[in-house]
Amino acid sequence: MSTVALITGGASGIGAAVARRLSSGGARCVLVDRDAAGAERVAKEVGGVWMAADVSDPDATRKAVALAEETYGRLDLVHLNAGISSGVDVADFDLERYRKTVGINVDGVVFGVEAAVPALRRHGGGAIVVTASLAGLVAFDGDPIYTMTKHAVVGLVRGLAVPLSEMGIRIGAVCPGFTDTPLVADIRDMFVGAGFPLLTAEDVAAAVESAFYAEEPGTLLVVQPGRQPVPYRYAGVPGPVGGETPPSSR
Ligand SMILES: NC(=O)c1ccc[n+]([C@@H]2O[C@H](COP(=O)([O-])OP(=O)(O)OC[C@H]3O[C@@H](n4cnc5c(N)ncnc54)[C@H](O)[C@@H]3O)[C@@H](O)[C@H]2O)c1
Repeated sequence: MSTVALITGGASGIGAAVARRLSSGGARCVLVDRDAAGAERVAKEVGGVWMAADVSDPDATRKAVALAEETYGRLDLVHLNAGISSGVDVADFDLERYRKTVGINVDGVVFGVEAAVPALRRHGGGAIVVTASLAGLVAFDGDPIYTMTKHAVVGLVRGLAVPLSEMGIRIGAVCPGFTDTPLVADIRDMFVGAGFPLLTAEDVAAAVESAFYAEEPGTLLVVQPGRQPVPYRYAGVPGPVGGETPPSSR
């Protein structure tokens, strides 16, 4: 029986690379993207199915989960990957752009979890990987709103790790540095000119695949050019004075 994977933002960049990687390993892929033409192109290439939808709509991932179950009879892996940079200039705060970014980068992930968990449980468990970012762990001064949304989904993954593992579902995230995809097309030349190495979408796809099978619930994989993906460890916070609670880094 083939593994069935659902990938949001599967029409381009990291999501498309994940679809190619998983399908070359025998998985059947269901792609969700607001870019219908791109999703159709990648789905044809990997022999999968696709759906045009906006992940900030709570029904979108629910319909995609239903498509996976109708087409392939199951669901095993869910890659919540669709995301945008905010472009919000803090000196000239564009509220509409802010709402849109939160809708895709945060709501889209929450709605994806909400849609996927019942289906994964129906089929005996599985795994969810969120594409966060290095900006989910450290500040990215170039886009504070993007930084906020990626910290938010890292927090969601950390909080869900144990409750979901008790349901037989692993959840984790990848936290890549700058990756050569259309998302960074506007600033690509600056990186190249400065000799700053970029990840490829394929580098990140390999990390996503290993995150699906990470043993520790809530694993956050840092992905940087030239390095093996490495789990991020928080420094931990001290317990209260006089209490028995040990320091926690979870
Ligand atoms: N490229 C980078 O440097 C980088 C670094 C770290 C994290 N990321 C994250 O990786 C993820 C994928 O980005 P990418 O670099 O592959 O960019 P990309 O622009 O190549 O791909 C993103 C895909 O998401 C889709 N998408 C956007 N909004 C959507 C919506 N509302 N509903 C459905 N689909 C939507 C786009 O159509 C596109 O196909 C994003 O979450 C991004 O934040 C990217």
